[in-house]
Amino acid sequence: MEQSVQHEVDQILSEFRLQEEDLHVLMCRMQSEMERGLRLETNEEASVKMLPTYVRSTPDGSEVGDFLALDLGGTNFRVMLVKVGEDVEGQWRVETKHKMYSIPEDAMTGTAKMLFDYIAECISDYLDQQNMKHKKLPLGFTFSFPVRHEDIDKGILLNWTKGFKASGAEGNNVVGLLRDAIKRRGDFEMDVVAMVNDTVATMISCYYEDHQCEVGLIVGTGCNACYMEEMRNVELVEGEDGRMCVNTEWGAFGDRGELEDFRLEYDRVVDEASVNPGQQLYEKMIGGKYMGELVRLVLLKMVNENLLFGGEASDKLKTRGAFETQFVSQIEGDSSDFKQTSNILHTLDVQPTPRDCHCVRLACESVSTRAAVMCSSGLAGVVNLMRQNRGEELLRITVGVDGSVYKLHPSFKAKFHAMVHTLTPGCEIIFIQSEEGSGRGAALVSAVAYKMAALIGH
Ligand code: GLC
Repeated sequence: MEQSVQHEVDQILSEFRLQEEDLHVLMCRMQSEMERGLRLETNEEASVKMLPTYVRSTPDGSEVGDFLALDLGGTNFRVMLVKVGEDVEGQWRVETKHKMYSIPEDAMTGTAKMLFDYIAECISDYLDQQNMKHKKLPLGFTFSFPVRHEDIDKGILLNWTKGFKASGAEGNNVVGLLRDAIKRRGDFEMDVVAMVNDTVATMISCYYEDHQCEVGLIVGTGCNACYMEEMRNVELVEGEDGRMCVNTEWGAFGDRGELEDFRLEYDRVVDEASVNPGQQLYEKMIGGKYMGELVRLVLLKMVNENLLFGGEASDKLKTRGAFETQFVSQIEGDSSDFKQTSNILHTLDVQPTPRDCHCVRLACESVSTRAAVMCSSGLAGVVNLMRQNRGEELLRITVGVDGSVYKLHPSFKAKFHAMVHTLTPGCEIIFIQSEEGSGRGAALVSAVAYKMAALIGH
């Protein structure tokens, strides 16, 4: 590449580079928001909501049998049947036959009634297929949005995230919306016993393999984490004993201005064009919903400076959302002399030179690397807080992880792990990937809740 062009490209991308000191600053700000979120007097104004989940540290065994699990929170809605049983070591579970339903745009952005009617329709279809319409199964619902719980099976949706917008849901009990939709259909019955966030489901599903798993992390369409906090610090819930899982909802970090000195022009454009401007600013710098679009904006910047594609952008490249996040993974994983990269660019009506391909790859790397290290400052904040609260010299902890960015991007994971380790002296962290965690976790939480309800005599 010509020296001057290389230099100018570098200049543009250098804005994405964060130093360890920056990440330390971010981590400290994140921790202070988390602490404010936990406290009663400051919860209201904290950007990081630290929502109690009513998932506790001392489950008294669980019910055995079939559970239906629902998973709503990304681009797809999934229904699955999970068999929960016990063996000598505790629980085992086998997931059978899951089915995926794509959510039509109008269900995502219409009314809550339309969305939940669609969900009930999918469940009905699934039960038909499994020949199980007659059974009233206990149901666990993984609902991956910020919910203020009153109990494990009751909580109001605070606000939609990740492009969802269905009206009439915010401020309402989500389990109620689901029960009402099932009643409206009238062709099957369900016993909704638990609602959990995907971070919580992920943590729980990994907990059964590794009892040190007390953190759940999602880096997919959105980005969020949960962890087991000492009850005495969870001021929003009465009681001092044991631990409760707290859904941090850290995606909203920055919504009170804590990220202003780190956000770039591209971040502002992505935010302004979203359905929830001013919200989820940290998530918008990391999540898969936004990563491709950030890269596209960087590419347009390079075109405008005459550094890329001969200074011409195709109409497709000028279209919002045209550069998919999976392209970022594919381009960074391209080991075929840019064959894959130019194929992708061809689909965007661009005829790239090898130099163009090289620049596109650099743009992808800049955006995804920043996402990885930003995310590591969040997780380091959580883990360091746990160590501090527990007063342990050495904290050994396992983090259960799920999400397409974490799992599918070729180098996100490695960069993320390395930076987390740098930022957490005195902690020994193991990462395990959850498989089908959302469904299995929801079923396991439901199995425990079901047993508890039976014990209390509900
Ligand atoms: C968004 C949601 C959060 C979820 C995360 C990952 O941040 O608000 O509840 O856990 O996405 O799906």
